[in-house]
Amino acid sequence: MKKLFLLILVGLVFAGMSMSVLAAEVTSNELEIFSWWTVGGEATGLKVLFDEFHGKYPDVEIINAAVGTGAGSTAKAVLVSRMLGGDPPDAFQVHGGQELIDTWVEIGKMVPVTSIYESEGWNEVMPEGIRNLVAYDGEYWAVPVGIHRGNVLWFNKDVFAKYSLDIPVTFEDFFEVAGVLEKNGLIPLALGSIKGYELGHTFETVLLGTLGAEGYRGLWTGEKSWSDPGVAKALETFKKMLGYANEDHSALSWDAAMEYVIAGKAAMLIQGDWVDGWIKAKNLTDFNYGQATAPGTNGSFIAINDTFGIPKNAPHQDAAMEFLRVVGSKEAQEKFAPLKGCIPVRTDADTTKFNDYQKWSFNDWTDNEIVASCVHGSAAKESWATEYKDTINLFAADLDVVATQKALVSIAEEALAE
Ligand code: GAL
Repeated sequence: MKKLFLLILVGLVFAGMSMSVLAAEVTSNELEIFSWWTVGGEATGLKVLFDEFHGKYPDVEIINAAVGTGAGSTAKAVLVSRMLGGDPPDAFQVHGGQELIDTWVEIGKMVPVTSIYESEGWNEVMPEGIRNLVAYDGEYWAVPVGIHRGNVLWFNKDVFAKYSLDIPVTFEDFFEVAGVLEKNGLIPLALGSIKGYELGHTFETVLLGTLGAEGYRGLWTGEKSWSDPGVAKALETFKKMLGYANEDHSALSWDAAMEYVIAGKAAMLIQGDWVDGWIKAKNLTDFNYGQATAPGTNGSFIAINDTFGIPKNAPHQDAAMEFLRVVGSKEAQEKFAPLKGCIPVRTDADTTKFNDYQKWSFNDWTDNEIVASCVHGSAAKESWATEYKDTINLFAADLDVVATQKALVSIAEEALAE
């Protein structure tokens, strides 16, 4: 009897403990989350994070302060004015790496979140390389939610089958295929560049495909000069590629360009894997599509790492901390990834639940050369990334290889000297 009583008592203590692990006390009744996730899988992915949080804290109202635009071009400007104007959200989406550290942590605008890593044991289940992207001065400053891949070629399988074409692996393959498609009245490469980041994104893949992983990395660390002949070669290749793209690209977003691929008017699109989340969110069951690595980049993986961090004067910090605890949890990451088109950061995620795209991406993630994206915040600080994007956007208009390479050299020199 005494034993039974003791067992019940121990049971009750444990039940109480796990309750407190599940739901810490949150006194705030609101939580404002800032991001640029408004379309397709971005929106459904974000919603699942909100739902997970709500499951634990049903009384906290979530305010979705998302400001749309691909890769955050507008959102980041809004965030800067809110942060500097004394009106920070409770938590915001930011890329791990320089975009987080250089823009916000170094100037003292963020709250460290190391305590959550410790209490949740995340050092054991999140890869060191990814943790390093959010680490500074002995603390962690954000929680990674997923790994996207930037160097993906999306294609319409029916179009390739109709013309008996192989999926291009090298740049030579790409131009061969593009020539056939063009002759048949199709747009070989669908492109949308209205958001301002897409050309820089595509050119990153061309740089990687031309210089290889080590050369590409070196461009951002200073080990490889931008005056290298490989950069000129990449610009020439990109120029040729642009000749196979739809002329109205500056009026389209990537999703509008992808509609050309869906309709079979265009064959391919180079874009990050949020495309997969977007296609799934549209429920396009008839669309026969596939993915491959962007030309020349087989064996390399441009990693894009979305995270959430908490600003120093966030009005509802207790709720924000709990939101971040959800963001890093196994359950939330497993649900978020297939919707968003990424793979979870956590190494203990159940891979048997992955969809086909995720299996492909995860497989490469585990054995490819991993490199960081500049356009998506990790490889270079924001000011460099912005100048790089502007220069490539200008290049798409004037196609001047010599002047563009010169500009890229001086932007890099300036950024690396700071
Ligand atoms: C990236 C971001 C992705 C996706 C993409 C397109 O910068 O990491 O999650 O949102 O922009 O908008």
